[in-house]
Amino acid sequence: MSYRLTIPGQEKELRRSFTREIAPDVWMLEGYISDYFLIKPASSNVFLLRDGDALLMLDSGTYPFYRERMLELMRRYRADGVKRVDLMLTQGHFDHASNNDVILESGMDWRFLLQEPEVRVLDYLADWMADFRDLEQLYDIYAQFDLGGITAPVNLASRISVGLARSILQANFRLMFLGIRNLSDRATILPSAARVKRRFGQVELEGWEVGRFFAIHDASHTPGHISLYDPENKLLLSGDVTVEINPAFYYSSLERCISTCGQFRRMAEEGYIELATDSHRSTTFFPDVMRTLRLTPFDEIEMTDVARGREECIRFFRAFEDFYSRLRDDILDVHARMGEATIPEITEELRAVDDAAVNLRKAMRFQRIPGRLDVLVAVVLKEAGATSRREGGRVIFSPRA
Ligand SMILES: [Fe+2]
Repeated sequence: MSYRLTIPGQEKELRRSFTREIAPDVWMLEGYISDYFLIKPASSNVFLLRDGDALLMLDSGTYPFYRERMLELMRRYRADGVKRVDLMLTQGHFDHASNNDVILESGMDWRFLLQEPEVRVLDYLADWMADFRDLEQLYDIYAQFDLGGITAPVNLASRISVGLARSILQANFRLMFLGIRNLSDRATILPSAARVKRRFGQVELEGWEVGRFFAIHDASHTPGHISLYDPENKLLLSGDVTVEINPAFYYSSLERCISTCGQFRRMAEEGYIELATDSHRSTTFFPDVMRTLRLTPFDEIEMTDVARGREECIRFFRAFEDFYSRLRDDILDVHARMGEATIPEITEELRAVDDAAVNLRKAMRFQRIPGRLDVLVAVVLKEAGATSRREGGRVIFSPRA
């Protein structure tokens, strides 16, 4: 079973998404992004890459709509001598993993290769709620939810109790994830201890070898997040390393996003990457979403679906490297100016900063686009090693000296 809350008219929208062979025997099935995440969640791009008599499928998306498109490609390759399909996930989030069980219908042998640190993420509800609970220790997160729209009950409930707000949120997420079968119980685990190092010019990466591919363990968006490198096509699929909502969770690492984008930029400079895209680049849906929500891109390269050639690839990774670095630096500047402050206080102060990176994030509202300014602040403080103390019900952070 996959995601089941598709709303009327959405199938028509999904049908606009493209299926494109972006390199020989490398297929990109464009996913979906809407202007209302909590009602019409994103669906990741899905990639199918032939490797001799095997087919690697990277991510499976959210909506059942995509199953037939995946099966059609699998049937075609099966008829052409492919014997096995290997499913891998850049991450375990539901928008990447809700059609995992489509491989059972492939008519081929299959394996679901799952990186060990990501196993717990596939327990969707427990994983998300644990992240909310970690943030609860630092500030009243539910009071940060929009008072307008469908998150209003969560905000209002937070005035009564944290537990009530959490229960309402949890009930909604439970419904969202209901009945999704992601095959986590049938996965072949890639142990952390089995990771190997590989060098590409100046850049050394750690990950798992899978056929001709290298699954790079970047631990950016999630603890077990991977990007996929295909040396034959000089192709880098960066998953959610390059998405505007990072760090989307308290367990996300903005520092790993910055350093990973830097490594990929260097690989492009040194001629190892000439084709790059990620899990949510979309020319069919993204421009509309940006327009509807009045979001201004920090760089036009955001609006592409696939970066082609050395220069575009360098620009793509550099743009995200700069974007993340500016977010971090702006927050640390604000905090240094303010002195001791709580996360909501720093978040409020950040709203006064006028910078393309921060402006994009200010304009994202959690129910519409799942990028939370308060979570960004919390992660930056954590990774900067800011010390904190509890005073009454408030957790106060001191800027680093
Ligand atoms: Fe994603």
